[in-house]
Amino acid sequence: MKKDFSNINDSNKNEWPKTVWITGASSGLGLHTAQALAANGFTVVAGARSFGKEKTVSGCRCLPLDVTDAASISGFSDQAMKIAGTPDVLINCAGIVILGACESYELDELREVMETNFYGMASMISKVLPLMREQGRGRIINFSSINGLLGIPFEGAYTASKHAIEGYSECLALETKPFGIEVMLVEPGGHRSSSKAYRRYSVGMTDDSPYKKAFDLGTASIVEYNSVNGSNPDELGQKIADVLKKEHLPRRMIIGKPKQRLSVIMHSILPSDVFDRIISNYYIKQ
Ligand SMILES: NC(=O)c1ccc[n+]([C@@H]2O[C@H](COP(=O)([O-])OP(=O)(O)OC[C@H]3O[C@@H](n4cnc5c(N)ncnc54)[C@H](OP(=O)(O)O)[C@@H]3O)[C@@H](O)[C@H]2O)c1
Repeated sequence: MKKDFSNINDSNKNEWPKTVWITGASSGLGLHTAQALAANGFTVVAGARSFGKEKTVSGCRCLPLDVTDAASISGFSDQAMKIAGTPDVLINCAGIVILGACESYELDELREVMETNFYGMASMISKVLPLMREQGRGRIINFSSINGLLGIPFEGAYTASKHAIEGYSECLALETKPFGIEVMLVEPGGHRSSSKAYRRYSVGMTDDSPYKKAFDLGTASIVEYNSVNGSNPDELGQKIADVLKKEHLPRRMIIGKPKQRLSVIMHSILPSDVFDRIISNYYIKQ
C-alpha cells in the first residue's frame, strides 16, 4: 500500500520523515526553507556559522555550523543527535558565489567556492550516511541551481561547484538506494532572497580587465533580475515541505520562472552555438 506523508502536519506526526537537518539556514533560501518546514510540523535543526552568535530562526533549533570545518560538522552532528535524534532528512543549502571571468579567478577563489558548495556538502553527507544507513532510510536534498545544468557568464566558479553537486548526487542516489536512502537535487532559478554578503567579486575583476565591460553588464542583469523579478523564496520553502510529505522524492526539482525552465530544455536540444548566442544576448547584450 502506498504511504502518503501529506498528513504529517495533522494527526500522524510520528510518520517518517520528521527530523530535518538543514545547512545554510541563516539567510536566503535555506532560511525560507527552514521556516516553511517548521511551519509544516517538521522538527528542524538548522545550521550556519552565524548561529550561536546573533542569529536564530523561530521554530527551529539553531546550531553553529561551518561546513568547511570537520570539527564544526562533528560538533553540529553530536548536538543535533542529542536534540532531535537521527535525521530523516539532510538538506544541504549552504552556498557562496564569487562572480568573475574564468580567467580572472585566483585558484584560492575557486577553492573557496568548491570548499563550501561542494566539499562542505559532501562532508555533511559523509557524516549523516552511517546514521541513515543504520536506521534503514533517509533523504538527502542537495541545493544545486539552474547553474548546475548550464553555464552562465561570469559565474564560472559557482557553476563548476553546482555541476560537481549534480554529478555527485547522481552517483550518490545509485549507491544509497539499496539502503533506503533517496537523493533529490533542487535547482532554483533566481530568487528574491540571495544576500549580497555571499555574492562577492573575484579580485581579478579589475577595471583594466578585458572582461570588465561584459562583466558589469552581466552581473548587473543578474542582480537586477533577482531583486526585481526573482521568484518568491517562501514558495520554494513550501514546495520542499510538500515534496517531503510524498512517498518518494523526484530526482530533480527545477524551481523557477518558465523562461528559466525553458533555458534548461533549450540547452539540451539546441546546437551549442545557437544556445550560446541566446545566453550571451540575454546576459551581456553588448
Ligand atoms: N538565491 C537564489 O536565487 C539561488 C538560485 C539558485 C541556487 N541557489 C542556492 O541556494 C542556496 C542558498 O542560496 P541563497 O542565495 O538563498 O543564500 P544566501 O542568502 O546567499 O545565504 C547563504 C547561506 O549559506 C550559509 N553559509 C555560507 N558559508 C557557509 C559555511 N561555510 N558553513 C555553513 N553555512 C554557510 C550562510 O550562513 P552563515 O554565513 O551564517 O554561515 C547563509 O545561511 C545556495 O546553495 C545557492 O547556491 C540560490
